[in-house]
Amino acid sequence: MATRGNEPFQRSVHIKTYGCQMNVRDSEAIGALLMRHGYRVLTGEEGADVILVNTCSVRGKAEDKALGKLRLVVASKPMRPGRVVGAVGCMVQRLGVDILKHVKGLDFAVGTHRLSTLPAVIEAACEGRGPLVDTGEEESETESLSGHLAGSMSAFVNVLLGCDRRCAYCIVPTVRGREWSRPSENVLREVAALAGQGVREVTLLGQSVMSYGRKNAVWPVDYKSDFGFVEPLPRLLEAVGRIGGIRRIRFTSGHPSGCSEELARSMAMVSGVCDHLHLPVQSGSDAVLKRMRRGYSAEDYLAAVRRLRAAVPTLALTTDVIVGFPGETVDDFEATRRLMDEARFDNSFIFKYSPREGTPAADWTDDVSPEEKLRRNHILLEDQDRRGIELNSACVGSLVEVLVEGPSLRNQERWAGRSSTNKIVIFDPRETVNAGDIVNVLIERVGPQVLYGTVKEVVLS
Ligand code: 5AD
Ligand code: SF4
Repeated sequence: MATRGNEPFQRSVHIKTYGCQMNVRDSEAIGALLMRHGYRVLTGEEGADVILVNTCSVRGKAEDKALGKLRLVVASKPMRPGRVVGAVGCMVQRLGVDILKHVKGLDFAVGTHRLSTLPAVIEAACEGRGPLVDTGEEESETESLSGHLAGSMSAFVNVLLGCDRRCAYCIVPTVRGREWSRPSENVLREVAALAGQGVREVTLLGQSVMSYGRKNAVWPVDYKSDFGFVEPLPRLLEAVGRIGGIRRIRFTSGHPSGCSEELARSMAMVSGVCDHLHLPVQSGSDAVLKRMRRGYSAEDYLAAVRRLRAAVPTLALTTDVIVGFPGETVDDFEATRRLMDEARFDNSFIFKYSPREGTPAADWTDDVSPEEKLRRNHILLEDQDRRGIELNSACVGSLVEVLVEGPSLRNQERWAGRSSTNKIVIFDPRETVNAGDIVNVLIERVGPQVLYGTVKEVVLS
């Protein structure tokens, strides 16, 4: 407990998160860690004694957003005497002490490997010993970052930290470090604890999650899987599937090289594994894929998709694509459009290439103009809307099992949840259901990314 004068008081913290699911997970773990140190975690920044901004470096725009936010909250400090402001995460790791030049008045900055030092760093900053910057490479104690905040029916669980892939455009290996897989025992203990708190859905996280257990051992040498699995990730899916109360298991992000026969089989055999995979393709042109150093061809990617769909015919696939990578011609781009149609993506996230200092591609001329990147971006989004409607139309008239999340973002009168295929489902009536329920919804109409319908029965409340 902190003291003000001689009076003890409970410090409050607000955490603003940018970036991927891994950052969302880190922010939650930081929140849980700070709670154990006596803090109150606030959902809004008003009144917070400590404001933390968890930053992302993946594209220039992500960094600009975090910097803008940091400058704003630093400017709020005179209105709230005693407030301290800190940055954490990928951008801190990338910039090091230079982050202090970008944000004047910042009290502290902690990189991706040192998050468990935050209680001490914040304490020091509150005592006026700032600015403090810690971007050490040595991993602080990761298990102290396995805590969760109560009250959610769905949780992220880290299984693989870092990334060893070194795709030519990507800053992640620089900011998140070498690949390291958590021992299965620790992951399973965390999931069992979550199940005990009422969590029904877990998403196992790794930048390249299918590399789980490939660089360091995660299973005891004499471990025997009931299904006879020998690969680390299928074994983990099987073991998580045995934990009572966990109804849905997701894992992300995938890489085609990890889509083995055994993984496909485990997705089909382990009850609870969802019918969805996020499998970033990035490009459909072999020349571009090669320059990106993705380690597969368009045909390799499609073969992985066929392998997965042979085992799980109902599988929904989503992807990431970069448009305007250095040297991407109109023919390369058309190859991407063709692959996207062939793979029948249920949804896709399109990004305009953004050079990241320190990556191999940053040395190549960023030769696709911003206007052309935007044009290609729009075309892929239009293609996706058409494909989304086509694929979703097949759901009309069928019952879809939905894990209820709460009021829909757009219209609070209606409720929303997700299907096993990870589609947003908006439904009526809401009176009969609660967040965390599993219900069957009759689908009546669809949009490119959303299904709409009526609740027919509550499967589990
Ligand atoms: N420029 C644009 N998009 C990028 N991504 C990663 N690095 C870059 C970059 N330099 C995209 C990839 C990745 C997603 C998370 O962000 O598509 O899968
Ligand atoms: Fe952003 Fe990548 Fe860091 Fe996630 S891992 S926050 S996407 S830079």
